[in-house]
Amino acid sequence: MRKPPGPKNRYPLEILFKVQRDPLSFFEQNSALYPDYFSWTAGPQRVWALTRPDLTQKILTGHPTHFEKGRALQRSRVLLGNGLLTAEGEEHLQHRRALQPAFRKDRIPRYAEVMMEETSSLLHLWQGSDGVEVDLHQEMMDLALAIVARTLLGQSLSPALRNDIGVALERALGGFRISILPFFDLLRKLPLKVVRDFESSRDQLHNIVRKLVQQADPQSPDSILSLLPDATHQQKLDHALTLLLAGHETTANAMTFAVYLLGRHPSALAQVENEIDCVLQGRTPTSGDYPELKFLRNVLEETLRLFPPAWMVGRKNLVPLEIDGYQVKPGSILLAPQWLMHRDSRYFPSPHSFRPERWEAQTPEKGAYFPFGGGTRVCIGEGFARMEAVLILAALLQKYRPTLPCPDELEVYAGITLRPKDGLRVKLTPRTLPKRSPRYNSNSPGEDLKYGAHTGCPIGAGRLSGS
Ligand code: HEM
Repeated sequence: MRKPPGPKNRYPLEILFKVQRDPLSFFEQNSALYPDYFSWTAGPQRVWALTRPDLTQKILTGHPTHFEKGRALQRSRVLLGNGLLTAEGEEHLQHRRALQPAFRKDRIPRYAEVMMEETSSLLHLWQGSDGVEVDLHQEMMDLALAIVARTLLGQSLSPALRNDIGVALERALGGFRISILPFFDLLRKLPLKVVRDFESSRDQLHNIVRKLVQQADPQSPDSILSLLPDATHQQKLDHALTLLLAGHETTANAMTFAVYLLGRHPSALAQVENEIDCVLQGRTPTSGDYPELKFLRNVLEETLRLFPPAWMVGRKNLVPLEIDGYQVKPGSILLAPQWLMHRDSRYFPSPHSFRPERWEAQTPEKGAYFPFGGGTRVCIGEGFARMEAVLILAALLQKYRPTLPCPDELEVYAGITLRPKDGLRVKLTPRTLPKRSPRYNSNSPGEDLKYGAHTGCPIGAGRLSGS
């Protein structure tokens, strides 16, 4: 059988350790040598990294019975149980149908209100004459956790509880890389500190979420538990854990990366501020503003391209496949790395430049851009996450101008998600909002037009007149 192109192990498991140590460099170096796909062995298993759109499409949208999740997500069952993210086959379909109503479009405006209530409380805490310096990543993680707990579990988390969840999660995720090693089951039996730490933080997290589920009102329409009347306690726990974890870190990372990119691109930041002032006129954003915040939405898109919080999707094939004449045996691991595809000059001109305006003209080729995955396993929270990120960024940048005290390039860490390696220090200086014309309040379309013209509002006066 012809051997596929790709790196070779010079000693057993060499590549596995390389991937563990620095996955992004490993992928970048090999895709420079093998632009469409490359393959290697990890113990008994063959792994393929696919970096051509028709191939990534194949695994994202291929028949669901031909693929299941890759090793990382399967192993994440030790942390997440058997919820929507990790379930397979018929069970996945049942979970998806049960939870779908919580993500219907008509639920999002209500969620947007909660998102803004939680954001206002945070912005209020930052009030001070000269501004504040914060670890924005930590703040966004706390905020997104509070939002997902209130919207999907109907629970307000105290700051202490948020902190406990954050700490336990951080420790559990810190140990996550070892849990995806092929011989993790063996490691678990050994008295290793790293394994014990992982397991104790996981147990702590499970205990907290178990309490949240017990306290939740099962009838409350604000809780996904009301959608699962026949679920066992364990199933409820698995769903709650999955949504809490899948639904907060990814969005928090995206918002942090967006502020980082805007901090490095003052003209884009000025354009965002102008749009926010023009659309919001000083009021708190609502879900109705989302379509109008076009440039900010492009900023989010460009952020998800350059720093995709889900940086790689993995699958295992259950049937034999063929890639350009190479045979792919069942049980192989197939990886579609957003990190590489989104930065490939064949699909994105000047791929390393931050250019939000590219999204005005560009609709990327299918399979070249997939921050939320695709096919039957596409992110169920995509609409939720987009609304959340845009409204929170709008509320934040309306009130504060971010500057980066440390001008160096951001170091990222590619674990279960892509995140800033050491958080992100940001100085937030209160903005002076442009004066609101008292005549604007009179609801007179004529005067609104003047205000729009005065600020150079790119969307004209239509929205300002409340239409
Ligand atoms: C910017 C934010 C987010 C990004 C980039 C993101 C990305 C993704 C990706 C790539 C997948 C597919 C994984 C795969 O195919 O293996 C996924 C699945 C999923 N996401 Fe998200 N996600 C985000 C926000 C959210 C939010 C806010 C929630 C819930 C509130 C959520 C819940 C889920 C769940 C439950 C799945 C599994 C869906 C299934 O298998 O049917 N995500 N996400």
